Amino acid sequence: MSEPLRHPDTMSGRDPSLLRGDVIDGERYYSPEFAQREWEHLWKRIWHVAGRTAELPEPGDYIVHDFLHESVIVIRQDDGGLKAFYNSCGHRGMRLAWDASHAADGLHCPYHGWVWGRDGVLKDLPDPDDFPQGNPCGELSLVEVRCDTWGGFVWYTMDPKAPALLDYLDPMPGVYANYPLDTCVRVFWMKVNLNTNWKFATDNFSESYHTRTAHPQVPPWIDQDYWSSRHEMWPNGHGRTVQPMRPSLRDRLPEGEPHPFDALLRAWDIDPDSYPDFETKAMQGWLDLKAQKRRLWKERGYVHYEHMDDEQLTDSPHTVIFPNVTISFLPDNIIFFRTEPHPDDPSKCTFDLWCMAFPVEGQTEVESIMADVQPLAEAEFQHRAFDGGRGVPEIAGQIVYQDMLLAEGQQRGWRSQGYRDCYLAGQESRVRYFHEVLNDYLEGRR
Ligand code: FES
Ligand SMILES: [Fe+2]
Repeated sequence: MSEPLRHPDTMSGRDPSLLRGDVIDGERYYSPEFAQREWEHLWKRIWHVAGRTAELPEPGDYIVHDFLHESVIVIRQDDGGLKAFYNSCGHRGMRLAWDASHAADGLHCPYHGWVWGRDGVLKDLPDPDDFPQGNPCGELSLVEVRCDTWGGFVWYTMDPKAPALLDYLDPMPGVYANYPLDTCVRVFWMKVNLNTNWKFATDNFSESYHTRTAHPQVPPWIDQDYWSSRHEMWPNGHGRTVQPMRPSLRDRLPEGEPHPFDALLRAWDIDPDSYPDFETKAMQGWLDLKAQKRRLWKERGYVHYEHMDDEQLTDSPHTVIFPNVTISFLPDNIIFFRTEPHPDDPSKCTFDLWCMAFPVEGQTEVESIMADVQPLAEAEFQHRAFDGGRGVPEIAGQIVYQDMLLAEGQQRGWRSQGYRDCYLAGQESRVRYFHEVLNDYLEGRR
């Protein structure tokens, strides 16, 4: 799959000559000063994901997103739009909301009882006449934060001068326009406390070089050969690796062991035994699968395939949205990964894992990819401490769990005086690109 790169701004994500070669030192993974610079120059300026639009079906529904010491409320308006506000009462600063809920007649401050309307305007308060400077009712508003939606996700930015969301995300909205992302159901929803810096995840999701070692279950399912993948990166800092969902030719399972690709072919009425050898099955079977999905999607209720192209029907574009969101766009699943820094300790972060599935008529359960089979229904939120893996038995042995196990060890290694910089393979070029874009933010070039 080394065809021409398609988007005009696409750069090869496997070409280190496009990079400056900025050193990726260890300090950026644990220094409080570095974390403070990230807050000032990165986090206050980017677009953050507050949640899914499905969490806000009715006017008055709201969600709360805490980020470091900041907190933002996003609330559904009476006209169906969304507004976001800093989570701080305009009277004396009390936090207004702790968890997602519904504001029947407004947001009630628990301290002195001020009531803020869904539109953020103060609508009621005790003793309105006792304000020498004037009754604030109808005059004061919560401080608004820009918010917008894309892909069924609710986004906000604290930066009044940030580019529009779709410009910030460019070219992702175009690249993924064929996926009906807002129809996805979040079937697994977990936040995990990890003892590592948030950047481990972006580093990790920017390369597949570690997959054979860390995730031996993957190569028979998704081709991990770097020469058959397409590595792409874009000026805004986003990037992706597109890999064919077929076994790579150099990863064979022992004779007689059930093969995931055989099961996939059978699921689409293709006989895996009809191919003369493993190579033909992997390569021709993958082409046959595209054609078969194209033929059968409608009668089988795979309505989300309607606009997908041949690549999207059978491949895995694993996509990093700068700086801290990764989305795996699989044919039937969308997996959202995100890390966010701990408010006080740069050697800690939280890891969000949202497994989403496109609903298929007649299905009541789905393979969630990272958390086994789950009911096809919006999941409840769970928050855990990783605790060496003991805190998250539901995902033990899964790809993402294997990454988490490694992350805490890498954090230890970054703190060693023996670590000075990476020594990267070509297929890991996007790791350095990520840090160079980050440095651009921190050093005032963006
Ligand atoms: S701080 Fe909110 S009503 Fe006083
Ligand atoms: Fe991994």
